[in-house]
Amino acid sequence: MNNLSSTAARGRRIAVCPGSFDPVTLGHLDIMQRASQLFDRVIVLVSVNPKKSPSFTPEERVEMIKRTAGHLKNIEVETFDGLLADFVRQKKATAIVKGLRAVTDFEYEFQMALANKKLCPEAETVFLVTRSENMYLSSSVVKQIASFGGDISGFVPPQIKDFIASRLCVRE
Ligand code: PNS
Repeated sequence: MNNLSSTAARGRRIAVCPGSFDPVTLGHLDIMQRASQLFDRVIVLVSVNPKKSPSFTPEERVEMIKRTAGHLKNIEVETFDGLLADFVRQKKATAIVKGLRAVTDFEYEFQMALANKKLCPEAETVFLVTRSENMYLSSSVVKQIASFGGDISGFVPPQIKDFIASRLCVRE
């Protein structure tokens, strides 16, 4: 079976890649890119994490992702303020893709994966292990560096670096 006919036989594989993306980092982009190679369609979902107070509006976060992941043709970006499991079912997705950095991520992600499996048994959570150079990288690290006027060019895509810095830097 060639690639095209095997994809047709399986149906289109849709994955949801959820997160706060406040803001999107090079680590997130790497996961999106790799997910785009594994699935036919990837919906990047800017979602609500009740434990976090975001610095950027959902619209700003969507715009930053579109500006940096726009070259990935099978990726779309949406927002949703409900349960991830409901969104996944609504989109008929079969996978939830998350990046896993360190052991510290694991317990929380494991709990979420189990809850989502209970709520939406038809979808699997797929963890992509982060590249070693992104192990330490997180949106909160980016925000902290930017707020002190530090250089964030090694952490976020160049297209959105100035926007993030101008929004977060509180020092002259
Ligand atoms: O980037 P984050 O903050 O780790 O992403 C977490 C997020 C937004 C994916 C998670 O909090 C989430 O799925 N929020 C939507 C509400 C929901 O479904 N919560 C999970 C119940 S198990």
